[in-house]
Amino acid sequence: MKKMNAVITGISAYLPDYVLTNEEISRMVDTTDEWIMTRVGIKERRILKGEGLGTSYLACKAIEDLFRKTGTTPDEIDLVICATSTPDHVFPATAAIICGKMGIKNAFAYDIQAACAGFLTAFYNAANYIESGRHKKVLVIAAEKMSSMIDYTDRATSPLFGDGAGVALVEPTTEDVGMMDTILRTDGSGFPYLHMKAGGSVYPATHETVDKHWHYVYQEGQTVFKNAVADMADVSEEIMKRNNLVADDLAWFIPHQANLRIIDAVARRMGVGKEKVMVNIEKYANTSAATIPICLWELEPTLKKGDKLVLSTFGAGFTYGSMYLKWGYDGNKYK
Ligand code: UT7
Repeated sequence: MKKMNAVITGISAYLPDYVLTNEEISRMVDTTDEWIMTRVGIKERRILKGEGLGTSYLACKAIEDLFRKTGTTPDEIDLVICATSTPDHVFPATAAIICGKMGIKNAFAYDIQAACAGFLTAFYNAANYIESGRHKKVLVIAAEKMSSMIDYTDRATSPLFGDGAGVALVEPTTEDVGMMDTILRTDGSGFPYLHMKAGGSVYPATHETVDKHWHYVYQEGQTVFKNAVADMADVSEEIMKRNNLVADDLAWFIPHQANLRIIDAVARRMGVGKEKVMVNIEKYANTSAATIPICLWELEPTLKKGDKLVLSTFGAGFTYGSMYLKWGYDGNKYK
């Protein structure tokens, strides 16, 4: 019997309308457009405004577009996995809320917390269900309302993040396309350098935790930077080596979008030229788990069936990984 692969058959994304520019940030904290552009490479980011709107809102907007373009109906979906660090509520799962809003009734649904590595982790989960033959149409969502946990009085973190969502429809195929290989790793020693201190079971919300700004992203940037470069480069090199890939074979290298300097350093170590490195951090900043599907969505119209892609990610935990994909369709089919 031919091996079953998990392949993306459609991809969509949603970025909220509000554009938060460096200029506006520099009126909130002591920073400049020049510092943010040279140190990080971000010009602007999107922010979800509106009372009562959370991560599921972003995800549903992306799913509506995906259903429309692929002609998929909610009752066909048999599994929904949502990667997020900013769930609508501590419980139930945002994936369940999404099912409720989208009328998805024949699926089971759960969230994945793997920080910025959420999309690759969720996709790897989906691929295992699909390769088993038990599931046929899976939604892999990565959605983040990062603005809900950013301290806009802290210049070290406020310029870095944005809101957004991406969603992939993942299905089985016996063709030689789809997910070819994945490496996922966790280095639990990363906790002190990137976390949100309160709001979980260790420090539930109190007046004191709020006063101390413990419900926001805390990051020791330089330590995270060094680990991100080393770990992303290691796993990207490893996946290329064990699949006999050289830089020339790749259509695109698609890295997590946290810092342009990290992206450049990783690509340099891999020997991949700038023209093959997907970068959109300037427009959307770091949307955590959502960066990679948003990149895929932007690239989709140019992608060809069989294009070889290496994806690479790094985030809190630390969690990191790489994935080798052979793209499954000519992107212009949805034009
Ligand atoms: O997606 C999850 C994974 N996250 C990442 O991969 C992020 C990794 N880290 C980074 O991208 C970078 O470390 C940052 C962008 C967070 C910071 O850049 P950096 O070059 O590492 O700066 P730094 O933290 O070493 O700070 C350098 C200087 C400091 O001033 P002094 O001590 O040299 O006087 C900071 O206070 O820059 C200062 N600084 C700022 N200045 C203007 C920090 N933030 C700002 C700011 N505007 N927004």
